[in-house]
Amino acid sequence: MASNTGPVALPELLVELDRTSDLPLHEQLESALRERIRSGGLPAGARLPSTRGFAMELGVSRGVVTECYAQLASEGYIETRQGASVRVARGIRAASQRAPASSLLPSFPYHFHPGLPDLAGFPRESWLRSVRTVWRDAPLDAVGYGDPRGAPSTRETLGAYLARARGAEADPERTLICSGFMQSFSLLCRWLQANGVQRIAVEDPGWMVHRLIAEQAGLEPVPVPVDADGLDVSELRMSGASAAILTPAHQFPTGVVLSGERRSALIDWAEDGDCLVIEDDFDAEFRYDRGAVGAIQGLAPERVVYIGSASKRLAPGMRLGWMLVPSWLAWPLVSLKAVEDGGSEAVSQLALADFIARGELDRHMRRMRLRYERRRHTLLDALARWLPQARPSRSAAGLYDLVELPEGIEETPLLAAAADRGVGIEPLSWHRLASTGTPGVLLGYANLSEPAIDRGVRLLAEAVAEIAF
Ligand SMILES: Cc1ncc(COP(=O)(O)O)c(C=O)c1O
Repeated sequence: MASNTGPVALPELLVELDRTSDLPLHEQLESALRERIRSGGLPAGARLPSTRGFAMELGVSRGVVTECYAQLASEGYIETRQGASVRVARGIRAASQRAPASSLLPSFPYHFHPGLPDLAGFPRESWLRSVRTVWRDAPLDAVGYGDPRGAPSTRETLGAYLARARGAEADPERTLICSGFMQSFSLLCRWLQANGVQRIAVEDPGWMVHRLIAEQAGLEPVPVPVDADGLDVSELRMSGASAAILTPAHQFPTGVVLSGERRSALIDWAEDGDCLVIEDDFDAEFRYDRGAVGAIQGLAPERVVYIGSASKRLAPGMRLGWMLVPSWLAWPLVSLKAVEDGGSEAVSQLALADFIARGELDRHMRRMRLRYERRRHTLLDALARWLPQARPSRSAAGLYDLVELPEGIEETPLLAAAADRGVGIEPLSWHRLASTGTPGVLLGYANLSEPAIDRGVRLLAEAVAEIAF
């Protein structure tokens, strides 16, 4: 494209300033010009009025225009040179000339995403209150370089919540705030690998991300089968692994609970072989048939690393998680975290402490539990009506249900046929390593309205009918 360096006729600069607004006039002028430049209304090289002429035209003091030009020049939108006219910077390209930034994520009108909570249900008002409280009341050093483990008040308040709601043993000295489950587990895998561990047991089926993170850290994931009682601990004993990652309270993806007997056997395995259990406690508070199943970390805090996050409880975009670490592992992991990113972002952590202390997290969880329970019923009703050949797991917990497909239906063609109808589903095979078995799909219901769940299942049934013949 030819660069536009010659003088360009100035398009009429109709700028409206609102004298009743709280926003200073120079800021109003800045955003009007910035917007005009970004949209291409003022092209690269275009000459802008002199400060005096523009101020007269707008009926403002010259200082307003001078301040606006100085700001836009510092942002690189315009060029100001002594004795020359002010121009739109030559390197500027309007947004419309650029290809829009792409997203790696697919988007579907009916997306049964198994990992999403109700995003519209995020308690924005009460969260904002907590954020405001932090900025109003927190001491100056709260937003300096902080303790890499996280803010002391967050570690304390969160610890009390985890002790109460999850039966965990949470010592603030051994609590580490991280960027979601993923960073916690990744730090841990890297430490294991650097300390001679080669094999880590993963559930099969199990969340594929466990396997990917372990592999990225140089560990060999060893699949251990899951049955109706959870991870098969006798198979674990034969696996040769010296660490195991599992989802005891609500197994991903099958939804089963690790039985009492298996819990004891798991701790025995860790004690006997000097091994480490890693507990992924991603969504245990969402149970619809009984009280939440407690965390195993409380049974053996020196053998179990507990990892939780705000992703299902509040929103995954917060990238906020926490880890309860055995005493012997605390400092090595804190050192890794300190070198990795210096500690997690401060304001959200402090807001979380305020949010929990005001009882808002408990309130939110209660509200969401009721909402998800209704949505789950809608899903089961819709499956019974539109796709009666499918078999839901009926695990009354979490944000999704694992649904076995009718005989002869293959997951991959179904994924495509569903996508053609605007329906996003996740196949069970993504989460299988060595195991084979009945095909299935994970249908997340938490982030869809009840009418959308019903419509989505109806469209899914059409996709099943299309590929069945
Ligand atoms: C089994 C499991 N663990 C943990 C998480 C949460 O990971 P993060 O906290 O990094 O968002 C998810 C999210 O989908 C999950 O499915």
